Amino acid sequence: MNLRVENVSFRYPSGVLALDGVNAEIASGEVVGILGENGAGKTTLVKLFNGLLRPSQGKVWIGDWDTADHSTAALAARVGFLFQNPDDQLFERTVAREVAYGPRNQGASEAQVKRRVAQALKLVGLQAQADSHPYDLPQPQRKLLALAATIAMQTPILVLDEPTIGQDEVGRTTIGHIVNSLHQMGRTLIIITHDVDFCAQHAQRILVMLQGKVHVDGAASEVLIQTKILDEAEVAPPQLVRLAQALKMPAAPLNVEDFVDEYKQWRKKRKK
Ligand SMILES: Nc1ncnc2c1ncn2[C@@H]1O[C@H](COP(=O)(O)OP(=O)(O)O)[C@@H](O)[C@H]1O
Ligand SMILES: [Mg+2]
Repeated sequence: MNLRVENVSFRYPSGVLALDGVNAEIASGEVVGILGENGAGKTTLVKLFNGLLRPSQGKVWIGDWDTADHSTAALAARVGFLFQNPDDQLFERTVAREVAYGPRNQGASEAQVKRRVAQALKLVGLQAQADSHPYDLPQPQRKLLALAATIAMQTPILVLDEPTIGQDEVGRTTIGHIVNSLHQMGRTLIIITHDVDFCAQHAQRILVMLQGKVHVDGAASEVLIQTKILDEAEVAPPQLVRLAQALKMPAAPLNVEDFVDEYKQWRKKRKK
């Protein structure tokens, strides 16, 4: 299911123009990272995808639906949302009930609900906590719970707002695995993040926002090496890119394995 943003502007009632003529098209199954400094308009943009906000101008299409013609409840079947703060979306008494809420609300049978809850909890590694109270989990795990609740909705498109924030290295790796699994299942993932290294590892495409506009949009391997353009948007390049450039290597691979291969070849050539 493709997502299309057509010449969209959005102004908050306070008068702030948060989005200014945004165009973007995201194809089914893509993993897109959205980068940009605080206040660039990232969260505002994704809130238009499920009708939490409505464009002041322009159109947002989710598949064949113009979001203007559909309620937030209807759009929730197509676009799942992980909020930046998980506590904004947790309200049940147990972990399992929290994850069951969405599918049950969608009219899934009890057998389906049970299966979806088990699958989602397994994916995020919270099976053992199924009967715990959500607020007995530490914050990073509450984020994983909120993610499980989002996954259980089985929407073709998922928006994750700052999924790795507040996570330690284990949590970050878990979220990376989850992103990879969802990608393999063919879901479209839109990840807002300040974690540019996470983007380097997991996103195929990068959209950089600056002052309500799309500053640059392209393949991760092309965008993340353009340090000048990233700099303009206050985004620090990935560590491997900085390392490659400091070493004056001819290329800057985005994952460690490729980097090591590239480095070895480059050293061999230099020795000759
Ligand atoms: N509820 C709101 N009311 C008024 N202005 C807002 C609101 N939310 C965000 N803004 C403003 O809109 C702009 C874009 O914000 P936001 O979309 O949250 O950016 P980002 O997610 O990239 O940090 C900023 O100038 C911000 O201050
Ligand atoms: Mg934000």
